[in-house]
Amino acid sequence: MKIAVVGTGYVGLVTGTCLAETGNNVICVDINEAKVKKMQDGQVPIYEPGLDLLFHRNIEQGRLHFTTNLAEAIEEAQIIFMALPTPPGGDGAADLSYILGAAKDISKIIKGYKIIVNKSTVPVGTADKVRAVFSENTDIEVDVVSNPEFLREGVAVEDFMKPDRVVLGTTSERVKKLMTELYGPYVRQGNPILFMDERSSELTKYAANSFLATKITFMNEVANLCELVGADVDAVRRGIGSDERIGKRFLFPGIGYGGSCFPKDVQALVMAADENTYDFQILKSVMEVNERQKTILVDKVLKYYKNDIAGKHFALWGLAFKPETDDIREAPALYIIDALVKNGATVTVFDPEGMDNVKNIIGDKVVFADNQYDALKNADALLIATEWSVFRNPDFEKIESILKNKVIFDGRNLYDLQKMIDLGYYYNSIGRKLID
Ligand SMILES: NC(=O)c1ccc[n+]([C@@H]2O[C@H](COP(=O)([O-])OP(=O)(O)OC[C@H]3O[C@@H](n4cnc5c(N)ncnc54)[C@H](O)[C@@H]3O)[C@@H](O)[C@H]2O)c1
Repeated sequence: MKIAVVGTGYVGLVTGTCLAETGNNVICVDINEAKVKKMQDGQVPIYEPGLDLLFHRNIEQGRLHFTTNLAEAIEEAQIIFMALPTPPGGDGAADLSYILGAAKDISKIIKGYKIIVNKSTVPVGTADKVRAVFSENTDIEVDVVSNPEFLREGVAVEDFMKPDRVVLGTTSERVKKLMTELYGPYVRQGNPILFMDERSSELTKYAANSFLATKITFMNEVANLCELVGADVDAVRRGIGSDERIGKRFLFPGIGYGGSCFPKDVQALVMAADENTYDFQILKSVMEVNERQKTILVDKVLKYYKNDIAGKHFALWGLAFKPETDDIREAPALYIIDALVKNGATVTVFDPEGMDNVKNIIGDKVVFADNQYDALKNADALLIATEWSVFRNPDFEKIESILKNKVIFDGRNLYDLQKMIDLGYYYNSIGRKLID
């Protein structure tokens, strides 16, 4: 099939590349000229494991193209995917200007029937708004479909190639047939393509992300309580996770959820509920608790130093909001840096992939180290904000020889408590016994 993907970010580029991988001819279009130039020069503009291989293979075999020219991208496409940003607007509700703006641009240049597929995360009713934009500007028939994306950064290629499910909001039989053909190769093992009305499809995505954010937040609260009552959150996690109704995943406590999706999607669902005079209380609490959790590691640091960290120097391992991505949007590490610096401390950071993105937004607010051990030089303590594999089994002798004090504040519970006792560290993690 001939496909255009409008917006070539984390979702658009993975979508375009993976659709090319099953033999489709894909043109990705983006307004960011520097990004498009990079891709035309054969460079993947984001870090996403496994994407390189597919990206290069499909470019070489002539199935994957990049352009800044919307008309050229959509001219021959049967299906136009929109993978555009939906950031929070001033009031916290999803800003639909990218989607509706692109829909308007497309509506003014299409020459024949197209299927417009919305992959962005959008509030209920967006498909109607997109449809209205088309009918205002053209007589040409279009079908507008909701197709929320569930890929996870860090395993996005795997998620796209083998999705747990594909959700499609459409009632058109013609669209159902074509989309079943398009997604068929990705669900050969039997995972479902779920057709539903577009409103349910739009809400499914927000409900999924909000549920996961709630699960994480619940566990963070359990962890905080564990510390107060002398319980061990790892034991509690195993104890509840083995119950199939609860499940083992998303039960690891930490320093709050971040990233480009959960914070904005929870907020957008709360706003959408408010607009419909429904008070989505549980999600309001989730947002509040998550705000508090983001700086819980700094609270621990402040308590340890009796509220005086002015002049102290800290090493911070991990910037990306989770491992295996360079995405630092809403990353808890940024809040930690902010709080440490505001309290008069200095910080040296290291992250395997997220350093450039952080440099671009906070510049010289912190020092960027070449590797995880260089970050420890002259540091009074080490803080850990992201569970990259490379931090899981570090050389503790080397850490001891560089860090000024054997003090670790671990926001991701990476180390075994007995090991830290044996090594003689002060070790403060989340929801577990304090080792001091
Ligand atoms: N990132 C994720 O893990 C993820 C997962 C599922 C769903 N989503 C949703 O998918 C959508 C896109 O997210 P993302 O993370 O890929 O965003 P992103 O910011 O990485 O990418 C968006 C891209 O769109 C481009 N763009 C903006 N306006 C454009 C226009 N008019 N024409 C062409 N290109 C334009 C930008 O330059 C950028 O490259 C959002 O709604 C998000 O909530 C994201």
